[in-house]
Amino acid sequence: MPMPHISPPTVRGLVRDAATAPSMHNAQPWRFVYHRNAGVLDLRSDAARDMTYADPDNRAQYLGCGAALLNLRVAAAHNGLVMHTSLLPDADDPRLVARIRPGTAGTAAATGALASLYPALSRRHTSRLPFEDHPLPDELKQLLAREAEAEGARLLFPGGWHVRFLLDLIAEAETYAEHAGDPDEARWLRGATAPEAADDGVPWSAVGPASEDTAWHTRDFGRGAGRDRSAARFERRPQLAVLSTADDDPPRWVVAGQALERVLLAATTVHVATGLTTQPLERQSLRWLLRDPVRGGGAVQMLLRLGYGQGSTGAVTRRRPVDDILDLEP
Ligand SMILES: Cc1cc2nc3c(=O)[nH]c(=O)nc-3n(C[C@H](O)[C@H](O)[C@H](O)COP(=O)(O)O)c2cc1C
Repeated sequence: MPMPHISPPTVRGLVRDAATAPSMHNAQPWRFVYHRNAGVLDLRSDAARDMTYADPDNRAQYLGCGAALLNLRVAAAHNGLVMHTSLLPDADDPRLVARIRPGTAGTAAATGALASLYPALSRRHTSRLPFEDHPLPDELKQLLAREAEAEGARLLFPGGWHVRFLLDLIAEAETYAEHAGDPDEARWLRGATAPEAADDGVPWSAVGPASEDTAWHTRDFGRGAGRDRSAARFERRPQLAVLSTADDDPPRWVVAGQALERVLLAATTVHVATGLTTQPLERQSLRWLLRDPVRGGGAVQMLLRLGYGQGSTGAVTRRRPVDDILDLEP
């Protein structure tokens, strides 16, 4: 059966939806190239958006591209299309993250689960605000774990002592960053030294308050920015989740990004706020300590913080225009 071709306006819409994905420091490290005659859409990473200090292997960048790929699949499902994707299809071209070919939807079940996440695309935001001290129901945790599993990753919710240990690792990574400085954070933070209005980067409005006590729950973009801001008491019992994959290589990083976004969208659908933390993952010596020593093999790819927001689920961040991230080729 011939593959359906999708029209350039449809491609533009899909790419716009894909780009609502989270990415480290909102660098939006993706480029899309649509080969009209072949009907093939390529997702490429953008070398100009590499973070050589915080992400020297481009692991986080692949995660962000994976999240954009999941969004694209969700948007396609919403349009009644299935996307056939091959990850890292060219060993000589590591910037080619995925090659995507549209197909028709086989059954409603094939697209239904993804399509149901579509309304969450525009509502999902990263929150760096305090959450309520209200536990997530076990059934919800199981549902989110199944979403991760559907994409080939594992989501574990660590218990009491392990959460405290993870918070210690986050605090250690934060303290290190405070002393050592982080040129990538400085490059992408908007509203301190760089202007607030930009189509990428983390705006000051999304930085969130400082923590009233010594426990860090989120990356503190505001430390050292030289701007006044309020302090707030964060939740006493943070609810963290650890996302991991069996192996640790570029294809698995793209898998992890897709799983991450699927979990975030599913959480958003049921009004659960989400935040992400990668500081301890940026230091190899801390990254391996994040694993659950009892249940968790594999490689940790992301630490998530989930909870019920106190009225807000986080600030909106901007995205680059579609024309900046999409090339239409013959
Ligand atoms: C791989 C990856 C790493 C991230 N690391 C952090 C982090 O350490 N701390 C944080 O507050 N947000 C982190 N984020 C969230 C981004 O800052 C956020 O997605 C981006 O600013 C865009 O905002 P949005 O998620 O609200 O759309 C990360 C996101 C990704 C995909």
